[in-house]
Amino acid sequence: MKLKDEVWKSGKVVNQFLTGVRGALPLAQTQIEVMLRLLATRRQPVRRFLDLGCGNGVLGAAVLEKYPRAAGVFADFSEPMLAACRAKLAGKHVTTLSLDFGKRDWAKAVAEAGPFDAIVSGFAIHHQPDQRKRTLYREIYRLLAPGGWFVNIEHVAPATPLTTVLFDEVMIESIHRQQSHLSRAVVSRQFVKRADKAANILAPVEEQCRWLRKIGFTDVDCYFKIYELAVFAGRKRDHR
Ligand SMILES: C[S@@+](CC[C@H](N)C(=O)[O-])C[C@H]1O[C@@H](n2cnc3c(N)ncnc32)[C@H](O)[C@@H]1O
Repeated sequence: MKLKDEVWKSGKVVNQFLTGVRGALPLAQTQIEVMLRLLATRRQPVRRFLDLGCGNGVLGAAVLEKYPRAAGVFADFSEPMLAACRAKLAGKHVTTLSLDFGKRDWAKAVAEAGPFDAIVSGFAIHHQPDQRKRTLYREIYRLLAPGGWFVNIEHVAPATPLTTVLFDEVMIESIHRQQSHLSRAVVSRQFVKRADKAANILAPVEEQCRWLRKIGFTDVDCYFKIYELAVFAGRKRDHR
């Protein structure tokens, strides 16, 4: 059976996301700032990091800008996304990897480049069923160095349908500002019926924070939230 997340392997979907949706996300730059502030709480600079479901590498690129000496691994299963990532990071000394984190053995492909001081992920893990998300968080924990951060900038389940109404409204207005040659009705229809929407399996952020605590992550919290978008994170315990 073809999984719904396979939609991300389509050049059309990737193009639509990178040229329309990504730039329309509310307070996207603030989300990245929150991620960087969390990483900066470490005593040491980030030396090794992984951007999981990297897309065009926007999150990892921000990590690299702050820590230019860090070795970055950018992993995704979409060839068009990896091509966009290579183009964005051309000239930088980074590793791009094609892998599917929905498969249990994905961690083997990155283990050698670890352990990581930071694993960041943006709007990617919500394509997995909840049980797989939990297992994936455990796999991520194992790949972290002591004191290493996992920061997930994620699309999460709304607590009430009103949250979705407000989120959709902000997104449609923002995309419409970028694509003013289209009518608002067309933008609205395209956004609500976007091909990747069916691949979303959203889970509440509070529940996902509970899963992280159960695994052993510390300093777990939702550090930022706007409508259906959240930045939640946790750190691997450092017993040194
Ligand atoms: C919404 S895009 C976000 C891209 C980027 N992280 C960002 O913040 O802009 C989701 C990304 O997750 C990737 N992805 C989804 N499921 C995946 C999987 N099972 N394994 C690897 N990558 C996956 C997609 O190919 C896509 O690049």
